[in-house]
Amino acid sequence: MARIQTIGVLTSGGDAPGMNAAVRAVTRAAICNGWKVMGIQRGYEGLVNNHIQEFRSESVSNTIQRGGTILKTARSKEFMTSEGRKKAHDNVVANGIDALIVIGGNGSLAGAQIFAQEYDIPCIGLPGTIDNDLYGTDTTIGYDTALNTIMECVDKIRDTANSHERIFFIEVMGRDAGFLAQNSAIATGAEAAIIPEEYTAVDQLAEFIGRGMRKSKNSSIVLVSESKKDGTGGAMYYADRVRKEYPDFDVRVTILGHLQRGGTPTAQDRILASRLGVAAIEALNDGQRNVMIGVSNNQIVYVPFNKAIKINKPIDKELMNVLNTLSI
Ligand code: F6P
Repeated sequence: MARIQTIGVLTSGGDAPGMNAAVRAVTRAAICNGWKVMGIQRGYEGLVNNHIQEFRSESVSNTIQRGGTILKTARSKEFMTSEGRKKAHDNVVANGIDALIVIGGNGSLAGAQIFAQEYDIPCIGLPGTIDNDLYGTDTTIGYDTALNTIMECVDKIRDTANSHERIFFIEVMGRDAGFLAQNSAIATGAEAAIIPEEYTAVDQLAEFIGRGMRKSKNSSIVLVSESKKDGTGGAMYYADRVRKEYPDFDVRVTILGHLQRGGTPTAQDRILASRLGVAAIEALNDGQRNVMIGVSNNQIVYVPFNKAIKINKPIDKELMNVLNTLSI
Protein backbone atom coordinates (compact mmCIF):
# COMPACT_ATOMS: atom_id res chain seq x y z
CA MET A 1 0.00 0.00 0.00
CA ALA A 2 1.33 3.44 -0.94
CA ARG A 3 2.39 5.62 1.98
CA ILE A 4 -0.37 7.90 3.22
CA GLN A 5 0.36 11.61 3.00
CA THR A 6 -3.09 13.14 2.84
CA ILE A 7 -6.41 12.06 4.33
CA GLY A 8 -9.93 13.31 3.71
CA VAL A 9 -12.52 13.52 6.47
CA LEU A 10 -16.28 13.85 6.13
CA THR A 11 -19.44 13.61 8.22
CA SER A 12 -22.46 12.00 6.62
CA GLY A 13 -26.09 11.07 7.32
CA GLY A 14 -27.94 12.40 10.36
CA ASP A 15 -25.74 14.72 12.42
CA ALA A 16 -24.88 13.66 15.96
CA PRO A 17 -23.49 15.64 18.91
CA GLY A 18 -19.79 14.85 19.18
CA MET A 19 -19.15 14.76 15.43
CA ASN A 20 -17.11 17.97 15.78
CA ALA A 21 -15.03 16.41 18.53
CA ALA A 22 -14.37 13.50 16.15
CA VAL A 23 -13.40 15.79 13.24
CA ARG A 24 -11.11 17.69 15.60
CA ALA A 25 -9.45 14.50 16.85
CA VAL A 26 -8.96 13.08 13.36
CA THR A 27 -7.54 16.38 12.10
CA ARG A 28 -5.11 16.92 14.95
CA ALA A 29 -3.97 13.29 15.20
CA ALA A 30 -3.31 13.22 11.45
CA ILE A 31 -1.37 16.49 11.60
CA CYS A 32 0.66 15.08 14.51
CA ASN A 33 1.45 12.16 12.24
CA GLY A 34 2.78 14.53 9.58
CA TRP A 35 -0.21 14.11 7.26
CA LYS A 36 -2.22 16.73 5.43
CA VAL A 37 -5.96 16.85 6.13
CA MET A 38 -8.68 17.76 3.64
CA GLY A 39 -12.09 18.63 5.11
CA ILE A 40 -14.90 17.48 2.84
CA GLN A 41 -18.13 19.52 3.13
CA ARG A 42 -21.66 18.01 3.12
CA GLY A 43 -20.62 14.38 3.31
CA TYR A 44 -20.39 12.41 0.08
CA GLU A 45 -22.19 15.27 -1.68
CA GLY A 46 -19.05 17.37 -1.17
CA LEU A 47 -16.84 14.58 -2.44
CA VAL A 48 -18.93 14.33 -5.62
CA ASN A 49 -18.98 18.12 -6.11
CA ASN A 50 -15.44 18.89 -4.94
CA HIS A 51 -16.38 20.94 -1.88
CA ILE A 52 -13.04 20.19 -0.28
CA GLN A 53 -10.57 22.40 1.55
CA GLU A 54 -7.47 21.91 3.61
CA PHE A 55 -8.02 21.64 7.36
CA ARG A 56 -5.32 22.89 9.69
CA SER A 57 -5.10 22.55 13.43
CA GLU A 58 -6.83 25.92 13.91
CA SER A 59 -9.69 24.87 11.58
CA VAL A 60 -11.01 22.75 14.44
CA SER A 61 -10.30 25.17 17.30
CA ASN A 62 -13.23 25.92 19.59
CA THR A 63 -15.38 23.14 18.14
CA ILE A 64 -15.24 20.29 20.69
CA GLN A 65 -18.19 21.72 22.62
CA ARG A 66 -20.39 22.44 19.60
CA GLY A 67 -23.30 20.28 18.46
CA GLY A 68 -24.02 19.59 14.78
CA THR A 69 -21.09 19.30 12.39
CA ILE A 70 -18.85 22.09 11.15
CA LEU A 71 -18.30 20.03 7.99
CA LYS A 72 -22.08 19.96 7.34
CA THR A 73 -23.75 16.72 6.39
CA ALA A 74 -26.07 15.26 3.78
CA ARG A 75 -27.64 12.06 2.58
CA SER A 76 -26.21 12.06 -0.95
CA LYS A 77 -28.36 10.48 -3.66
CA GLU A 78 -25.71 11.04 -6.32
CA PHE A 79 -23.08 9.06 -4.42
CA MET A 80 -25.43 6.09 -4.49
CA THR A 81 -24.93 5.89 -8.27
CA SER A 82 -21.75 4.56 -9.89
CA GLU A 83 -21.49 7.81 -11.93
CA GLY A 84 -21.56 9.79 -8.69
CA ARG A 85 -18.88 7.63 -7.13
CA LYS A 86 -16.74 8.02 -10.27
CA LYS A 87 -16.95 11.83 -9.86
CA ALA A 88 -16.11 11.42 -6.18
CA HIS A 89 -13.07 9.34 -7.04
CA ASP A 90 -11.88 11.91 -9.60
CA ASN A 91 -11.99 14.51 -6.81
CA VAL A 92 -10.17 12.19 -4.41
CA VAL A 93 -7.35 11.92 -6.97
CA ALA A 94 -7.41 15.65 -7.82
CA ASN A 95 -7.00 16.53 -4.12
CA GLY A 96 -4.28 13.96 -3.53
CA ILE A 97 -6.37 12.13 -0.91
CA ASP A 98 -4.85 8.73 -0.03
CA ALA A 99 -7.39 7.60 2.59
CA LEU A 100 -10.84 8.59 3.81
CA ILE A 101 -12.30 8.87 7.29
CA VAL A 102 -16.08 8.70 7.28
CA ILE A 103 -18.02 9.71 10.40
CA GLY A 104 -21.63 8.57 10.27
CA GLY A 105 -24.19 5.82 10.70
CA ASN A 106 -25.20 2.72 8.82
CA GLY A 107 -25.80 4.25 5.38
CA SER A 108 -22.62 6.31 5.56
CA LEU A 109 -20.45 3.29 6.35
CA ALA A 110 -22.19 1.31 3.60
CA GLY A 111 -21.15 4.12 1.22
CA ALA A 112 -17.54 3.87 2.45
CA GLN A 113 -17.55 0.13 1.96
CA ILE A 114 -18.69 0.26 -1.64
CA PHE A 115 -16.35 3.16 -2.48
CA ALA A 116 -13.40 1.27 -0.98
CA GLN A 117 -14.29 -1.84 -2.97
CA GLU A 118 -14.71 0.01 -6.26
CA TYR A 119 -11.66 2.26 -6.04
CA ASP A 120 -9.30 0.48 -3.68
CA ILE A 121 -9.05 3.46 -1.37
CA PRO A 122 -8.48 2.81 2.36
CA CYS A 123 -11.53 3.91 4.33
CA ILE A 124 -11.97 4.04 8.08
CA GLY A 125 -15.40 4.56 9.65
CA LEU A 126 -16.27 6.20 12.94
CA PRO A 127 -19.71 5.37 14.40
CA GLY A 128 -21.55 8.70 14.46
CA THR A 129 -25.28 8.34 15.09
CA ILE A 130 -27.66 9.02 17.96
CA ASP A 131 -29.36 5.67 17.23
CA ASN A 132 -26.52 3.51 18.65
CA ASP A 133 -27.40 0.86 16.07
CA LEU A 134 -23.96 -0.11 14.77
CA TYR A 135 -22.85 -3.63 15.54
CA GLY A 136 -19.48 -4.19 17.22
CA THR A 137 -19.33 -1.03 19.30
CA ASP A 138 -20.90 -0.63 22.72
CA THR A 139 -21.88 2.93 21.95
CA THR A 140 -21.84 5.49 19.15
CA ILE A 141 -20.91 9.18 19.02
CA GLY A 142 -24.03 11.22 19.89
CA TYR A 143 -26.01 8.49 21.60
CA ASP A 144 -25.24 9.57 25.17
CA THR A 145 -26.08 13.21 24.45
CA ALA A 146 -29.38 12.28 22.79
CA LEU A 147 -30.25 10.02 25.71
CA ASN A 148 -29.63 12.86 28.16
CA THR A 149 -31.67 15.28 26.04
CA ILE A 150 -34.59 12.84 25.99
CA MET A 151 -34.28 12.33 29.74
CA GLU A 152 -34.54 16.07 30.41
CA CYS A 153 -37.58 16.38 28.16
CA VAL A 154 -39.36 13.40 29.69
CA ASP A 155 -38.72 14.66 33.23
CA LYS A 156 -40.48 17.89 32.24
CA ILE A 157 -43.38 16.04 30.64
CA ARG A 158 -43.70 13.91 33.79
CA ASP A 159 -44.48 17.06 35.80
CA THR A 160 -47.48 17.92 33.67
CA ALA A 161 -48.50 14.27 33.25
CA ASN A 162 -48.66 13.93 37.03
CA SER A 163 -50.51 17.17 37.55
CA HIS A 164 -53.21 16.26 35.02
CA GLU A 165 -53.18 12.51 35.71
CA ARG A 166 -52.57 11.71 32.07
CA ILE A 167 -50.92 9.03 29.96
CA PHE A 168 -48.22 10.33 27.63
CA PHE A 169 -46.87 8.49 24.63
CA ILE A 170 -43.51 10.09 23.89
CA GLU A 171 -41.94 9.32 20.54
CA VAL A 172 -38.17 9.24 20.23
CA MET A 173 -35.87 8.63 17.27
CA GLY A 174 -34.58 5.25 16.18
CA ARG A 175 -36.62 3.88 13.31
CA ASP A 176 -35.01 0.48 13.32
CA ALA A 177 -33.40 0.38 16.74
CA GLY A 178 -34.90 0.79 20.19
CA PHE A 179 -31.81 1.77 22.20
CA LEU A 180 -32.96 5.35 22.75
CA ALA A 181 -36.50 4.32 23.74
CA GLN A 182 -35.42 1.46 25.98
CA ASN A 183 -32.71 3.27 27.89
CA SER A 184 -34.51 6.60 28.20
CA ALA A 185 -37.47 4.64 29.59
CA ILE A 186 -35.24 3.18 32.30
CA ALA A 187 -33.60 6.54 33.02
CA THR A 188 -36.92 8.34 33.42
CA GLY A 189 -38.79 5.63 35.32
CA ALA A 190 -41.24 5.26 32.46
CA GLU A 191 -43.98 2.65 32.57
CA ALA A 192 -43.08 0.98 29.26
CA ALA A 193 -40.99 1.19 26.09
CA ILE A 194 -42.23 0.17 22.67
CA ILE A 195 -39.29 -0.75 20.47
CA PRO A 196 -38.97 -2.21 16.98
CA GLU A 197 -37.01 -5.22 18.21
CA GLU A 198 -39.90 -6.54 20.29
CA TYR A 199 -43.51 -7.09 19.45
CA THR A 200 -45.83 -5.11 21.71
CA ALA A 201 -49.47 -6.13 21.68
CA VAL A 202 -51.64 -3.04 22.05
CA ASP A 203 -54.07 -4.92 24.26
CA GLN A 204 -51.34 -5.95 26.66
CA LEU A 205 -49.99 -2.45 26.79
CA ALA A 206 -53.37 -0.88 27.45
CA GLU A 207 -54.14 -3.39 30.14
CA PHE A 208 -50.77 -2.86 31.75
CA ILE A 209 -51.25 0.91 31.85
CA GLY A 210 -54.77 0.40 33.13
CA ARG A 211 -53.59 -1.73 36.00
CA GLY A 212 -50.91 0.81 36.94
CA MET A 213 -53.35 3.72 36.83
CA ARG A 214 -55.89 1.91 39.00
CA LYS A 215 -53.32 0.68 41.48
CA SER A 216 -50.86 3.28 42.55
CA LYS A 217 -50.11 5.71 39.78
CA ASN A 218 -51.83 8.81 38.60
CA SER A 219 -49.85 9.17 35.38
CA SER A 220 -48.05 6.98 32.88
CA ILE A 221 -45.21 7.59 30.46
CA VAL A 222 -44.58 5.26 27.53
CA LEU A 223 -41.50 5.76 25.36
CA VAL A 224 -42.11 4.78 21.74
CA SER A 225 -39.57 4.38 18.93
CA GLU A 226 -40.59 6.40 15.88
CA SER A 227 -42.70 4.81 13.17
CA LYS A 228 -41.16 2.66 10.47
CA LYS A 229 -40.63 3.97 6.93
CA ASP A 230 -43.93 2.30 5.93
CA GLY A 231 -45.71 4.46 8.55
CA THR A 232 -46.60 1.67 10.99
CA GLY A 233 -45.99 2.07 14.71
CA GLY A 234 -45.05 5.34 16.38
CA ALA A 235 -46.62 7.18 19.32
CA MET A 236 -49.79 8.32 17.49
CA TYR A 237 -50.67 4.77 16.53
CA TYR A 238 -50.38 3.39 20.07
CA ALA A 239 -52.09 6.40 21.65
CA ASP A 240 -55.07 6.01 19.32
CA ARG A 241 -55.39 2.33 20.12
CA VAL A 242 -55.26 2.91 23.89
CA ARG A 243 -57.77 5.78 23.59
CA LYS A 244 -60.19 3.44 21.83
CA GLU A 245 -59.90 0.71 24.44
CA TYR A 246 -59.79 3.00 27.47
CA PRO A 247 -61.95 6.03 26.67
CA ASP A 248 -61.72 7.17 30.31
CA PHE A 249 -57.98 7.73 30.08
CA ASP A 250 -56.68 11.17 29.23
CA VAL A 251 -54.06 10.36 26.59
CA ARG A 252 -51.54 12.79 25.07
CA VAL A 253 -48.72 12.43 22.54
CA THR A 254 -45.38 14.25 22.34
CA ILE A 255 -43.02 13.71 19.44
CA LEU A 256 -39.55 14.90 20.42
CA GLY A 257 -38.25 14.94 16.83
CA HIS A 258 -35.04 16.64 15.78
CA LEU A 259 -34.35 18.39 19.06
CA GLN A 260 -32.88 15.01 20.04
CA ARG A 261 -30.07 15.48 17.51
CA GLY A 262 -28.93 18.92 18.68
CA GLY A 263 -27.14 20.39 21.64
CA THR A 264 -23.74 20.46 23.18
CA PRO A 265 -22.21 16.97 23.44
CA THR A 266 -21.87 15.33 26.86
CA ALA A 267 -18.43 14.67 28.34
CA GLN A 268 -18.88 11.00 27.46
CA ASP A 269 -19.51 11.77 23.78
CA ARG A 270 -16.60 14.21 23.58
CA ILE A 271 -14.21 11.67 25.12
CA LEU A 272 -15.53 8.83 22.95
CA ALA A 273 -15.19 10.93 19.78
CA SER A 274 -11.67 12.03 20.74
CA ARG A 275 -10.58 8.46 21.44
CA LEU A 276 -12.08 7.12 18.23
CA GLY A 277 -10.59 9.93 16.13
CA VAL A 278 -7.08 9.27 17.40
CA ALA A 279 -7.59 5.51 16.99
CA ALA A 280 -8.68 6.03 13.37
CA ILE A 281 -5.33 7.60 12.51
CA GLU A 282 -3.45 4.87 14.39
CA ALA A 283 -5.44 2.26 12.48
CA LEU A 284 -4.47 3.78 9.12
CA ASN A 285 -0.87 3.95 10.28
CA ASP A 286 -1.02 0.25 11.12
CA GLY A 287 -2.27 -0.56 7.63
CA GLN A 288 -5.91 -1.14 8.63
CA ARG A 289 -8.55 -0.38 6.05
CA ASN A 290 -12.28 -0.79 5.61
CA VAL A 291 -13.03 -1.11 9.29
CA MET A 292 -15.15 0.86 11.72
CA ILE A 293 -13.41 1.87 14.92
CA GLY A 294 -15.51 1.00 17.94
CA VAL A 295 -15.27 0.59 21.68
CA SER A 296 -16.05 -2.72 23.34
CA ASN A 297 -15.57 -3.23 27.08
CA ASN A 298 -13.71 0.07 27.08
CA GLN A 299 -11.15 -1.22 24.54
CA ILE A 300 -10.71 0.11 21.01
CA VAL A 301 -11.81 -2.48 18.45
CA TYR A 302 -11.72 -2.70 14.66
CA VAL A 303 -15.01 -3.91 13.20
CA PRO A 304 -15.08 -4.88 9.50
CA PHE A 305 -17.62 -2.73 7.62
CA ASN A 306 -19.54 -5.83 6.65
CA LYS A 307 -20.22 -6.75 10.25
CA ALA A 308 -20.85 -3.21 11.53
CA ILE A 309 -23.50 -2.58 8.88
CA LYS A 310 -25.09 -5.95 8.21
CA ILE A 311 -25.38 -7.54 11.64
CA ASN A 312 -28.26 -6.29 13.75
CA LYS A 313 -27.01 -5.01 17.07
CA PRO A 314 -29.05 -6.87 19.68
CA ILE A 315 -31.03 -5.06 22.31
CA ASP A 316 -30.11 -6.01 25.88
CA LYS A 317 -32.90 -8.31 27.13
CA GLU A 318 -31.73 -7.89 30.71
CA LEU A 319 -32.40 -4.15 30.47
CA MET A 320 -35.93 -4.83 29.25
CA ASN A 321 -36.34 -6.95 32.34
CA VAL A 322 -35.06 -4.09 34.52
CA LEU A 323 -37.63 -1.75 32.96
CA ASN A 324 -40.50 -4.19 33.40
CA THR A 325 -39.57 -5.03 36.96
CA LEU A 326 -39.31 -1.41 38.06
CA SER A 327 -42.41 -0.11 36.33
CA ILE A 328 -45.01 -2.12 38.27
O1 F6P B 1 -30.13 8.09 11.89
C1 F6P B 1 -30.37 9.13 12.74
C2 F6P B 1 -31.80 9.59 12.66
O2 F6P B 1 -31.95 10.67 13.55
C3 F6P B 1 -32.85 8.51 12.92
O3 F6P B 1 -33.08 8.27 14.28
C4 F6P B 1 -34.06 9.07 12.22
O4 F6P B 1 -34.94 8.05 11.84
C5 F6P B 1 -33.47 9.76 11.03
O5 F6P B 1 -32.12 10.07 11.36
C6 F6P B 1 -34.17 11.02 10.61
O6 F6P B 1 -33.53 11.53 9.49
P1 F6P B 1 -33.80 12.96 8.85
O7 F6P B 1 -33.16 13.99 9.73
O8 F6P B 1 -33.16 12.89 7.51
O9 F6P B 1 -35.28 13.15 8.81
